[in-house]
Amino acid sequence: MYKIIPLLLSIFYFLLMSACSESVKETSEDQPLKEGNIALGKELYIVCAGCHGANGEGIKALNAPALVNQETWYLEKQLNNFRLGIRGNDPENIPGTQMATIAKTLTGADQVSDVAAYIKTLPPTTTEQTISGDIEKGRNYYHMICGACHGKNAVGNPSLNSPRLAGIDDWYLEAQFNLFKNGIRGMHPDDTHGAQMQAMSNSLPDDQALKDVIAYIQSLQNLEQR
Ligand code: HEC
Ligand code: HEC
Repeated sequence: MYKIIPLLLSIFYFLLMSACSESVKETSEDQPLKEGNIALGKELYIVCAGCHGANGEGIKALNAPALVNQETWYLEKQLNNFRLGIRGNDPENIPGTQMATIAKTLTGADQVSDVAAYIKTLPPTTTEQTISGDIEKGRNYYHMICGACHGKNAVGNPSLNSPRLAGIDDWYLEAQFNLFKNGIRGMHPDDTHGAQMQAMSNSLPDDQALKDVIAYIQSLQNLEQR
Protein backbone atom coordinates (compact mmCIF):
# COMPACT_ATOMS: atom_id res chain seq x y z
CA MET A 1 0.00 0.00 0.00
CA TYR A 2 2.79 2.46 0.96
CA LYS A 3 4.31 2.01 -2.47
CA ILE A 4 1.24 3.67 -3.92
CA ILE A 5 1.71 6.95 -2.06
CA PRO A 6 4.65 8.31 -4.10
CA LEU A 7 2.77 7.32 -7.23
CA LEU A 8 -0.35 9.19 -6.17
CA LEU A 9 1.81 12.19 -5.34
CA SER A 10 3.39 12.13 -8.77
CA ILE A 11 -0.03 11.91 -10.45
CA PHE A 12 -1.14 14.86 -8.35
CA TYR A 13 1.99 16.76 -9.36
CA PHE A 14 1.33 16.18 -13.05
CA LEU A 15 -2.30 17.19 -12.75
CA LEU A 16 -1.12 20.38 -11.10
CA MET A 17 1.53 20.99 -13.73
CA SER A 18 -0.95 20.57 -16.55
CA ALA A 19 -3.27 23.04 -14.87
CA CYS A 20 -0.48 25.64 -14.50
CA SER A 21 1.70 25.14 -17.55
CA GLU A 22 1.56 27.79 -20.21
CA SER A 23 3.54 27.23 -23.39
CA VAL A 24 5.17 30.19 -25.02
CA LYS A 25 6.63 28.55 -28.11
CA GLU A 26 4.37 27.51 -30.96
CA THR A 27 3.73 23.78 -30.72
CA SER A 28 0.94 21.37 -31.59
CA GLU A 29 -0.61 22.31 -28.27
CA ASP A 30 -1.63 25.75 -29.40
CA GLN A 31 -2.64 25.11 -32.98
CA PRO A 32 -6.01 26.81 -33.50
CA LEU A 33 -8.75 24.17 -33.60
CA LYS A 34 -11.07 25.24 -36.35
CA GLU A 35 -14.11 23.67 -37.92
CA GLY A 36 -12.67 21.54 -40.72
CA ASN A 37 -13.97 21.41 -44.29
CA ILE A 38 -15.37 17.89 -44.75
CA ALA A 39 -15.27 17.92 -48.57
CA LEU A 40 -11.60 18.95 -48.63
CA GLY A 41 -10.90 16.41 -45.91
CA LYS A 42 -12.42 13.63 -47.99
CA GLU A 43 -9.95 14.39 -50.79
CA LEU A 44 -7.06 14.38 -48.33
CA TYR A 45 -8.23 11.11 -46.79
CA ILE A 46 -7.63 9.17 -50.04
CA VAL A 47 -3.93 8.80 -49.16
CA CYS A 48 -4.72 7.84 -45.55
CA ALA A 49 -7.07 5.03 -46.63
CA GLY A 50 -4.09 3.03 -47.96
CA CYS A 51 -2.95 2.37 -44.38
CA HIS A 52 -5.91 3.21 -42.12
CA GLY A 53 -8.58 1.58 -44.31
CA ALA A 54 -11.32 3.08 -46.48
CA ASN A 55 -13.53 3.59 -43.41
CA GLY A 56 -10.79 4.50 -40.92
CA GLU A 57 -11.13 1.05 -39.35
CA GLY A 58 -7.34 0.53 -39.19
CA ILE A 59 -5.09 -2.14 -40.71
CA LYS A 60 -3.14 -4.04 -38.08
CA ALA A 61 -0.78 -5.65 -40.61
CA LEU A 62 0.45 -2.11 -41.42
CA ASN A 63 0.56 -1.06 -37.73
CA ALA A 64 -2.03 1.58 -38.60
CA PRO A 65 -4.69 1.92 -35.90
CA ALA A 66 -8.41 2.57 -36.29
CA LEU A 67 -8.99 6.34 -36.27
CA VAL A 68 -12.78 6.52 -36.16
CA ASN A 69 -13.23 5.79 -32.45
CA GLN A 70 -10.81 8.49 -31.27
CA GLU A 71 -11.90 12.05 -30.47
CA THR A 72 -11.23 14.75 -33.06
CA TRP A 73 -9.18 16.99 -30.71
CA TYR A 74 -6.69 14.18 -30.12
CA LEU A 75 -6.44 13.16 -33.78
CA GLU A 76 -5.65 16.77 -34.66
CA LYS A 77 -3.14 17.10 -31.85
CA GLN A 78 -1.28 13.96 -32.90
CA LEU A 79 -1.35 14.87 -36.60
CA ASN A 80 0.16 18.22 -35.71
CA ASN A 81 2.74 16.47 -33.52
CA PHE A 82 3.78 14.24 -36.43
CA ARG A 83 3.70 17.18 -38.84
CA LEU A 84 5.88 19.38 -36.63
CA GLY A 85 8.41 16.63 -35.91
CA ILE A 86 7.38 16.30 -32.25
CA ARG A 87 6.31 12.66 -32.64
CA GLY A 88 7.59 9.89 -34.92
CA ASN A 89 11.12 11.21 -35.34
CA ASP A 90 13.00 8.28 -33.77
CA PRO A 91 14.45 6.11 -36.56
CA GLU A 92 13.96 3.02 -34.35
CA ASN A 93 10.22 3.60 -34.49
CA ILE A 94 9.38 2.57 -38.06
CA PRO A 95 5.56 2.93 -37.82
CA GLY A 96 6.01 6.38 -36.28
CA THR A 97 8.42 7.56 -38.97
CA GLN A 98 6.06 6.27 -41.68
CA MET A 99 3.19 8.26 -40.23
CA ALA A 100 5.37 11.35 -39.76
CA THR A 101 6.36 11.27 -43.44
CA ILE A 102 2.69 11.32 -44.48
CA ALA A 103 1.70 13.99 -41.94
CA LYS A 104 4.39 16.29 -43.31
CA THR A 105 2.59 16.26 -46.69
CA LEU A 106 -0.29 18.12 -45.00
CA THR A 107 0.32 21.80 -45.58
CA GLY A 108 -0.73 23.07 -42.17
CA ALA A 109 -3.18 23.00 -39.26
CA ASP A 110 -6.04 23.78 -41.68
CA GLN A 111 -5.58 20.57 -43.65
CA VAL A 112 -5.25 18.68 -40.37
CA SER A 113 -8.65 20.04 -39.29
CA ASP A 114 -10.15 19.19 -42.69
CA VAL A 115 -9.04 15.57 -42.68
CA ALA A 116 -10.03 15.14 -39.02
CA ALA A 117 -13.49 16.58 -39.79
CA TYR A 118 -13.92 14.00 -42.54
CA ILE A 119 -12.81 11.15 -40.24
CA LYS A 120 -15.45 12.30 -37.75
CA THR A 121 -18.17 11.59 -40.36
CA LEU A 122 -17.14 7.91 -40.68
CA PRO A 123 -19.02 5.39 -38.54
CA PRO A 124 -17.34 4.03 -35.38
CA THR A 125 -15.91 0.53 -35.56
CA THR A 126 -15.64 -2.37 -33.12
CA THR A 127 -11.99 -3.18 -32.54
CA GLU A 128 -10.96 -6.82 -32.31
CA GLN A 129 -9.54 -8.19 -29.06
CA THR A 130 -5.95 -9.35 -29.68
CA ILE A 131 -4.52 -9.21 -26.13
CA SER A 132 -5.70 -11.30 -23.22
CA GLY A 133 -5.14 -10.49 -19.58
CA ASP A 134 -6.71 -10.60 -16.15
CA ILE A 135 -9.54 -8.07 -16.39
CA GLU A 136 -10.04 -7.87 -12.61
CA LYS A 137 -6.39 -7.08 -11.93
CA GLY A 138 -6.48 -4.68 -14.86
CA ARG A 139 -9.49 -2.90 -13.40
CA ASN A 140 -7.60 -2.30 -10.16
CA TYR A 141 -4.52 -0.93 -11.86
CA TYR A 142 -6.65 1.20 -14.15
CA HIS A 143 -8.59 2.84 -11.34
CA MET A 144 -5.54 3.24 -9.14
CA ILE A 145 -3.33 4.82 -11.80
CA CYS A 146 -4.75 5.55 -15.24
CA GLY A 147 -8.30 6.67 -14.47
CA ALA A 148 -7.17 9.91 -12.82
CA CYS A 149 -6.25 11.26 -16.24
CA HIS A 150 -7.98 9.03 -18.81
CA GLY A 151 -11.36 9.15 -17.08
CA LYS A 152 -13.56 6.66 -15.27
CA ASN A 153 -14.61 4.65 -18.32
CA ALA A 154 -11.45 5.44 -20.31
CA VAL A 155 -13.37 7.91 -22.45
CA GLY A 156 -10.57 10.49 -22.07
CA ASN A 157 -10.42 13.94 -20.54
CA PRO A 158 -9.60 16.81 -22.92
CA SER A 159 -9.04 19.23 -20.03
CA LEU A 160 -6.12 16.98 -18.96
CA ASN A 161 -5.09 16.38 -22.58
CA SER A 162 -5.63 12.69 -21.95
CA PRO A 163 -7.09 10.72 -24.84
CA ARG A 164 -9.85 8.17 -24.99
CA LEU A 165 -8.45 4.65 -24.58
CA ALA A 166 -11.71 2.65 -24.72
CA GLY A 167 -12.41 1.62 -28.32
CA ILE A 168 -8.78 2.08 -29.39
CA ASP A 169 -7.04 -1.04 -30.75
CA ASP A 170 -5.54 -3.02 -27.87
CA TRP A 171 -2.31 -3.80 -29.82
CA TYR A 172 -1.91 -0.07 -30.52
CA LEU A 173 -2.34 0.86 -26.84
CA GLU A 174 0.32 -1.70 -25.90
CA ALA A 175 2.72 -0.48 -28.58
CA GLN A 176 2.28 3.18 -27.62
CA PHE A 177 2.63 2.53 -23.90
CA ASN A 178 5.90 0.71 -24.61
CA LEU A 179 7.13 3.55 -26.84
CA PHE A 180 6.66 5.91 -23.88
CA LYS A 181 8.27 3.40 -21.51
CA ASN A 182 11.28 2.88 -23.77
CA GLY A 183 11.88 6.61 -24.11
CA ILE A 184 10.90 6.75 -27.78
CA ARG A 185 7.63 8.72 -27.55
CA GLY A 186 7.18 11.77 -25.34
CA MET A 187 10.85 12.80 -25.41
CA HIS A 188 10.74 15.85 -27.70
CA PRO A 189 11.19 19.08 -25.69
CA ASP A 190 7.94 20.49 -27.12
CA ASP A 191 5.94 17.40 -26.24
CA THR A 192 4.79 18.40 -22.75
CA HIS A 193 1.70 16.17 -22.77
CA GLY A 194 3.68 13.24 -24.13
CA ALA A 195 6.19 13.83 -21.31
CA GLN A 196 3.38 13.57 -18.74
CA MET A 197 2.43 10.15 -20.10
CA GLN A 198 6.09 9.19 -20.37
CA ALA A 199 6.46 9.83 -16.65
CA MET A 200 3.52 7.51 -15.97
CA SER A 201 4.82 4.68 -18.11
CA ASN A 202 6.91 3.21 -15.29
CA SER A 203 3.89 2.95 -13.02
CA LEU A 204 3.00 -0.65 -13.90
CA PRO A 205 5.15 -3.44 -12.41
CA ASP A 206 5.60 -5.51 -15.59
CA ASP A 207 4.41 -6.38 -19.10
CA GLN A 208 1.69 -8.67 -17.78
CA ALA A 209 0.20 -5.80 -15.74
CA LEU A 210 0.03 -3.76 -18.94
CA LYS A 211 -1.79 -6.61 -20.71
CA ASP A 212 -4.20 -6.81 -17.75
CA VAL A 213 -4.95 -3.07 -17.92
CA ILE A 214 -5.42 -3.21 -21.68
CA ALA A 215 -7.73 -6.24 -21.41
CA TYR A 216 -9.81 -4.22 -18.95
CA ILE A 217 -9.85 -1.17 -21.27
CA GLN A 218 -10.89 -3.41 -24.17
CA SER A 219 -13.80 -4.67 -22.05
CA LEU A 220 -15.02 -1.06 -21.75
CA GLN A 221 -15.42 -0.66 -25.49
CA ASN A 222 -18.75 1.11 -25.61
CA LEU A 223 -19.12 3.02 -28.77
CA GLU A 224 -22.35 4.68 -27.72
CA GLN A 225 -20.31 6.93 -25.45
CA ARG A 226 -18.46 8.32 -28.37
C1 HEC B 1 2.10 4.52 -44.86
C2 HEC B 1 0.96 4.20 -44.01
C3 HEC B 1 0.17 5.36 -43.42
C4 HEC B 1 -0.50 6.35 -44.10
C5 HEC B 1 -0.60 6.55 -45.60
C6 HEC B 1 -1.16 7.15 -43.08
N1 HEC B 1 -0.90 6.66 -41.83
FE1 HEC B 1 -1.56 7.40 -40.06
N2 HEC B 1 -0.49 6.02 -39.04
C7 HEC B 1 0.24 5.02 -39.63
C8 HEC B 1 0.92 4.26 -38.61
C9 HEC B 1 1.82 3.06 -38.83
C10 HEC B 1 0.55 4.85 -37.36
C11 HEC B 1 1.03 4.44 -35.96
C12 HEC B 1 2.25 5.25 -35.61
C13 HEC B 1 2.93 4.80 -34.35
O1 HEC B 1 2.86 3.63 -34.00
O2 HEC B 1 3.53 5.68 -33.68
C14 HEC B 1 -0.33 5.96 -37.69
C15 HEC B 1 -0.89 6.80 -36.73
C16 HEC B 1 -1.79 7.81 -37.01
C17 HEC B 1 -2.42 8.67 -36.04
C18 HEC B 1 -2.22 8.63 -34.53
C19 HEC B 1 -3.41 7.98 -33.87
C20 HEC B 1 -3.35 7.96 -32.37
O3 HEC B 1 -4.39 7.70 -31.77
O4 HEC B 1 -2.29 8.18 -31.77
C21 HEC B 1 -3.24 9.52 -36.72
C22 HEC B 1 -4.13 10.60 -36.13
C23 HEC B 1 -3.13 9.19 -38.13
N3 HEC B 1 -2.24 8.15 -38.27
C24 HEC B 1 -3.82 9.83 -39.15
C25 HEC B 1 -3.54 9.67 -40.51
C26 HEC B 1 -4.11 10.50 -41.54
C27 HEC B 1 -5.13 11.60 -41.32
C28 HEC B 1 -3.54 10.10 -42.73
C29 HEC B 1 -3.70 10.71 -44.10
C30 HEC B 1 -3.35 12.10 -44.22
C31 HEC B 1 -2.65 8.97 -42.41
N4 HEC B 1 -2.68 8.76 -41.06
C32 HEC B 1 -1.92 8.27 -43.35
C33 HEC B 1 0.37 4.76 -40.97
C34 HEC B 1 -0.10 5.56 -41.99
C1 HEC C 1 -0.89 12.15 -15.34
C2 HEC C 1 -1.93 11.82 -16.28
C3 HEC C 1 -1.88 10.42 -16.91
C4 HEC C 1 -1.90 9.20 -16.28
C5 HEC C 1 -1.97 8.91 -14.78
C6 HEC C 1 -1.88 8.20 -17.35
N1 HEC C 1 -1.86 8.81 -18.57
FE1 HEC C 1 -1.84 7.89 -20.39
N2 HEC C 1 -1.71 9.70 -21.32
C7 HEC C 1 -1.73 10.93 -20.68
C8 HEC C 1 -1.61 11.98 -21.67
C9 HEC C 1 -1.58 13.47 -21.38
C10 HEC C 1 -1.52 11.34 -22.94
C11 HEC C 1 -1.40 12.02 -24.30
C12 HEC C 1 0.05 12.15 -24.71
C13 HEC C 1 0.21 12.91 -25.99
O1 HEC C 1 -0.43 13.96 -26.17
O2 HEC C 1 0.99 12.46 -26.85
C14 HEC C 1 -1.60 9.91 -22.68
C15 HEC C 1 -1.52 8.94 -23.67
C16 HEC C 1 -1.63 7.57 -23.45
C17 HEC C 1 -1.56 6.55 -24.47
C18 HEC C 1 -1.40 6.78 -25.97
C19 HEC C 1 -2.76 6.70 -26.63
C20 HEC C 1 -2.78 7.00 -28.11
O3 HEC C 1 -3.75 6.62 -28.77
O4 HEC C 1 -1.88 7.67 -28.61
C21 HEC C 1 -1.69 5.35 -23.84
C22 HEC C 1 -1.69 3.97 -24.48
C23 HEC C 1 -1.87 5.62 -22.42
N3 HEC C 1 -1.81 6.98 -22.22
C24 HEC C 1 -2.07 4.64 -21.47
C25 HEC C 1 -2.11 4.88 -20.09
C26 HEC C 1 -2.23 3.83 -19.11
C27 HEC C 1 -2.40 2.35 -19.42
C28 HEC C 1 -2.17 4.43 -17.89
C29 HEC C 1 -2.18 3.78 -16.53
C30 HEC C 1 -1.16 2.75 -16.29
C31 HEC C 1 -2.02 5.88 -18.12
N4 HEC C 1 -2.00 6.10 -19.48
C32 HEC C 1 -1.91 6.83 -17.12
C33 HEC C 1 -1.84 11.14 -19.33
C34 HEC C 1 -1.85 10.17 -18.35
